[in-house]
Amino acid sequence: MDFKIRKVKLEEIDKVSAVTAEAYTHPYDIEEKVTSGFMKNPELGKAVESGKINILVALVGNRIVGAVRYAIQDKVAHLSKLAVLKDYRNKGIAAELVNKVEFEAKNLGATKVTLDFMQEKNLQSYYEKLEYKITEIKEHGKHHDVFAEKTL
Ligand SMILES: CC(C)(COP(=O)(O)OP(=O)(O)OC[C@H]1O[C@@H](n2cnc3c(N)ncnc32)[C@H](O)[C@@H]1OP(=O)(O)O)[C@@H](O)C(=O)NCCC(=O)NCCS
Repeated sequence: MDFKIRKVKLEEIDKVSAVTAEAYTHPYDIEEKVTSGFMKNPELGKAVESGKINILVALVGNRIVGAVRYAIQDKVAHLSKLAVLKDYRNKGIAAELVNKVEFEAKNLGATKVTLDFMQEKNLQSYYEKLEYKITEIKEHGKHHDVFAEKTL
């Protein structure tokens, strides 16, 4: 399946939030595993417009099927909200979104990418395959947060 990745357009922010929210509900039917806080974010558009947050989207035809965010601070790019819609998974779209973040972050002067995920999501081997190293695992309420990073 052909897909392309590009920067989000400001008018697409609401759509991206909806795609991210939808992606996060599969396969996590347990409410705790669905990240809250990003579904209605009135500040997100402003943050993207000012360059504080970068969003990349993956498109199949004209449809946004995946997205990822990153923000750079002190030469560290933090990647978050990696999401691909259920019907478009296992085609390498997420891996390509991560790749693109790394490429752009490096061009913007970042020396590493950090990310974190809920241990219960079993994404450790996925990120290890993308050459991320686990740096810390912290208890967080009823679950655990795994922190990982990759040197660029
Ligand atoms: C995680 C996610 C972004 C992967 O998207 P994708 O486009 O299918 O990923 P890719 O095609 O690059 O990689 C697919 C590979 O990851 C594995 N994988 C995907 N999700 C996984 C999961 N939750 N647990 C374990 N492995 C997983 C697949 O088995 C596949 O493995 P393979 O390459 O050995 O065949 C997608 O499943 C998703 O949106 N999940 C819900 C949101 C989420 O949890 N995001 C991550 C938050 S940190």
